[in-house]
Amino acid sequence: MARGLRFRIQRAARKMAEQHQHIHGILRDFDHALADGDRQRVMEVFDSYRSALEAHFSLEEGVFFPGLHGLQPQRSAELDALSQDHESFAAELERLAESIRDVQLERAFGELVTDLGQHERREEQIVRRLTEGEGGEDDQEDGSGSASPSRSGVESSS
Ligand SMILES: [Fe+2]
Ligand SMILES: [Fe+2]
Repeated sequence: MARGLRFRIQRAARKMAEQHQHIHGILRDFDHALADGDRQRVMEVFDSYRSALEAHFSLEEGVFFPGLHGLQPQRSAELDALSQDHESFAAELERLAESIRDVQLERAFGELVTDLGQHERREEQIVRRLTEGEGGEDDQEDGSGSASPSRSGVESSS
């Protein structure tokens, strides 16, 4: 049972990492459009970025987080914090979409991208822990049930 669940989560984790890369590719297009001063293209790429992120959040919330919660219920606080981030990012993207013609867009967008980068590192750290063999409920670190959502500064070792 747990083995099948773990397999599904690992597959979702691979998809999640692929989507992170895809989203980074869209960001590079966005930077190019900004550098070219092509506002029409900026708006098109912004729409792609927003759609890709919404699809990505759906995968994480529909497959990855519930599966991981089934395998590691002690992570619920951490997963809740990531889900709350999704809501904030979606609201911020909606706000940005309304002000897309605003000259302040670039700065506001830059802040969102930075925050999203930290969010992704937290998710990828969860995946690393999973693939490095930290398995089920008995692996809880301290028994407090308070997996810290503030691990965003922790960086990849590779
Ligand atoms: Fe996420
Ligand atoms: Fe993600």
